[in-house]
Amino acid sequence: MYKTKIAGIGKYLPENVVTNHDLTKVMDTTDEWIQERTGIRERRYGTKHKESTTTMAARAAEVAIERAGTTKESIDFIIFATLSPDYFFPGCGVLLQRELGITNTEIGALDIRNQCSGFIYALSIGDQFIKSGMYKNILVVGSEMHSMGLDFSTEGRNVTVIFGDGAGAVVLQPSDDVSEILTTKLHSNGTHAEELAFINPGCHGGYHLGTEQFGYPDPNTYGGIFLTPKMVEEGMIYPNMNGQFVFKLAVQKFPEVIQEALVSQGLQTTDIDMFIPHQANLRISQFVQKILKLDDSKVWNNIQKYGNTTAASIPIALCEAWEAGKINKGDLVCLAAFGSGFTWGSALIRW
Ligand code: UT7
Repeated sequence: MYKTKIAGIGKYLPENVVTNHDLTKVMDTTDEWIQERTGIRERRYGTKHKESTTTMAARAAEVAIERAGTTKESIDFIIFATLSPDYFFPGCGVLLQRELGITNTEIGALDIRNQCSGFIYALSIGDQFIKSGMYKNILVVGSEMHSMGLDFSTEGRNVTVIFGDGAGAVVLQPSDDVSEILTTKLHSNGTHAEELAFINPGCHGGYHLGTEQFGYPDPNTYGGIFLTPKMVEEGMIYPNMNGQFVFKLAVQKFPEVIQEALVSQGLQTTDIDMFIPHQANLRISQFVQKILKLDDSKVWNNIQKYGNTTAASIPIALCEAWEAGKINKGDLVCLAAFGSGFTWGSALIRW
């Protein structure tokens, strides 16, 4: 069996900076509230009609491919994690292949829908393909263009102020030295799926599964993906989140899944050189850091600058930490995420 290494890493952040103050012009919120509750000072928004989840992913991928010392044509599989795809279908994997100009190779492309933990799921799948010898040069990306699907009225403020746009990418290759993805741990529990969800448009017609809570549209109506004018009018086309519920579960599941990974490798929290948590809320990251008893120098947070970029948040932070010289060969890097589904996971990487 082969070992998998991250051979190259890249990121892309749109140029357009949107501060908390900017948001106060369109909704009833304050810089103080946002900073105090989330740690966020600003985020980036892609340029409408010029940038998309796919184009941002391509820019991050180009950097990762170059740093891996390989070429676009040598990529033999694509794994794309996003919750904000360019199209309902087809997925962003094939669009990325086209954007990179490598359709002639006709490699496989897979889309991952695991929201905040999407990148860890994608990494884990890529790792299995490399280990088995099936592929030798896998492009794994997380990219999000949230700004196109947020509610900028006061009603949506608890969700909208948190999210930002961006992309991160890695190239996975077989390793012949110390560098290795040691383990990945993946979990889910769909019991509370709707507590953090973007329900419409969907084939379920806006119904909360098992209830008639939302009641749109007429249950006797048939005809494809439901998106009615009434849904648009009543703002049922935006993500919704029970923030406190998510927060409480997140701070429980992060430490659990990190410990699970460490124990499986006979390692301890003191062995971690760099912890990259999914950037959902600075308070969540700090809470987890405290439980793990990690110094500030061993945790990388950038939510202050970029907000929560869901599937892109871990690869962007990992790339930034590496570019800053904070991750060196042989270091133990720990990734962990929790989010919608709920799904969560961790990865331990010997860099
Ligand atoms: O990445 C996916 C996973 N997501 C997460 O992990 C998110 C986890 N949850 C959170 O990060 C936090 O719950 C939030 C940041 C989303 C919200 O913070 P909170 O401290 O839980 O606030 P809350 O939702 O309990 O709301 C408290 C108050 C409410 O007002 P009242 O009812 O007390 O008068 C909200 O209406 O804050 C109000 N509020 C706001 N005020 C100003 C909610 N959003 C805003 C806002 N600006 N943007």
